[in-house]
Order: sequence, then C-alpha cells, then structure tokens
Amino acid sequence: MATTEQREREEVAERLLAASARHSFDPDTELDWDAPLVPGLWFMPAHLVSLYDTPLWRRMTEEQRIELSRHETASVAAAGIWFEIILMQLLARHIRGQDPRTGHVRYAFTEVADECRHSMMFARLITTLGTPWYGPGRTTRRLGALMAATAPTPAAFLGTLLAEEILDRNQRATMADETVQPLVRGVTRIHVVEEARHVRYAREELRRQMTTAPAWERAYARLSSGESALVVSRTLVHPRVYASVGLDPDEAQRQARASEHRRETLRWSAERLTSFLDEIGVLRGRTVLAQWRRSGLL
Ligand SMILES: [Fe+2]
Ligand SMILES: [Fe+2]
Repeated sequence: MATTEQREREEVAERLLAASARHSFDPDTELDWDAPLVPGLWFMPAHLVSLYDTPLWRRMTEEQRIELSRHETASVAAAGIWFEIILMQLLARHIRGQDPRTGHVRYAFTEVADECRHSMMFARLITTLGTPWYGPGRTTRRLGALMAATAPTPAAFLGTLLAEEILDRNQRATMADETVQPLVRGVTRIHVVEEARHVRYAREELRRQMTTAPAWERAYARLSSGESALVVSRTLVHPRVYASVGLDPDEAQRQARASEHRRETLRWSAERLTSFLDEIGVLRGRTVLAQWRRSGLL
C-alpha cells in the first residue's frame, strides 16, 4: 500500500545508495597528509577570502593575505564540523522509529557515516594547517544545540541544506583552482562528491515536507530560515582569524561587512539554494525576506 510519495522517496534513496557504493572515500588513505604544504599557494581562492578587495586588503602583503586564507579555511572547517555534528543529530532524530529496512533510512545511515568521515577529515586538516580551533561562540553553539534537539523535520532539512549548499558552492570553486594547496583541493573534492548526494537527499525530502508536513511545521521552517541563514553566514569566518594575522578584528569585520565584493560572493554562494527555496515556497513574507537579506545571502 505504498503511496506514490513513498515510492518516489525509495527510488531516490536507492539511487543514492548505489552512487555511495561506487564513489565513497576514506580521506585518511585517499589524501597525502604527509606532503609538505607548497610555499606561495593559497588555502582558498583569493577572491573568496573575506577581505578581498577591501582597503585593508590593499595594504596587506601577499604573505599576509595567504596567511589569512589559511586561517579562514581552518575557520570554515571548524564551522563545517559544528554543522555536521548538528546534522548527524538531526538525521538520527529523523529516522528514529522508522523502518530500518527502507532505502530512506539506510541512506540516512550512509549519510551519517559520510559526515563522520568528513568531520575527521576537517579536524585533520585544521591540525595540518597548524591554526587554532575556531568554531562558533557560546551563544551560537547553544542555539545550534537547541535546534538539533527540537527542530521539526522541515526545519531540520532546511538547516541542513543551508549549510551544505553554501559550503558546496565555495568548495567547487576551491577544488578547481590551481593556485590552491593540493591538500585543500583534495579535501574539497572528496566533500563535493559526497555532499552532492546529501544535497539531493535533503532537497527531495524538503520539497516533500513543504507540501505534506503539518502547517505549523512548514511555517516554523519558513520563519526560522532567516535566522538559520544569518547563523550560517556569520559562523563561517570567525573574527579571531583577523587577529591571527595581525589585523584589528573589529575594523576587519567592519570592512568585510561593508565590502560589495564580499556581499556579491555571499549571494553567489547561496544563489542556487535561494532559487530552490523560493520555488518551494520558503522565501515568503516580509520578515523572512528581511532576515535573509540581513544574512547577506539574498
Ligand atoms: Fe559533510
Ligand atoms: Fe552533508
């Protein structure tokens, strides 16, 4: 007595399981962690560094700019681990009580396993980069913990998609860029391949949820989406990265926020996501849109 919806869900899951069986990576053996970092190469494409093309940037030496790219990459990796821990918790909650024989649940297990390897890979990257462990501040961490423990399904998949699609856009640009360190390119390549499936899974589920979930759960997802967008966009670059390269964190943050290039970059990183969210009816209402604009992602 499976409904069309359940059949579609299973078809997607089976395809994703087959793709996972073909292309999954063990980062520990896949990447050459012992190769020395290459002098003069960036840790992310220069134009993705938060201060690119600001007055401060123009005064920085090339060495200092590259050093900032190292710290920002470590900051994004730390934020990535934080996102992934929340996501693993959301996925575990999502499948609790569901039939584990279904493709949908088996794929959720596969995704949790992927995220475990990703977080270990990001942690190893931070260690290799030799930077501090950045990651969100206390208030943001508490907000994340609350969301992970309580978010209804549509909001859970929306939050997941937000973090995954924005990282994905940046990582696709990074993995293809020859001015970037081979190790960082390797890490982003593995992540992009495996995350493409996660994005598919979350999109399909969110699309279904936004038509079938109870009205209050859909409203909750829509109303909380702007806040999630703000948290994601503000968490990527920890203000301490600026102090790490000898800049005044307040001034640097002010210039990054005022930068037209930065705003353009943030919008670019979210444009595929925002057009999807618009299509499924999430980006509706004046308050919601205003919050999204404040996040810089719209
Ligand atoms: Fe991941
Ligand atoms: Fe993921």
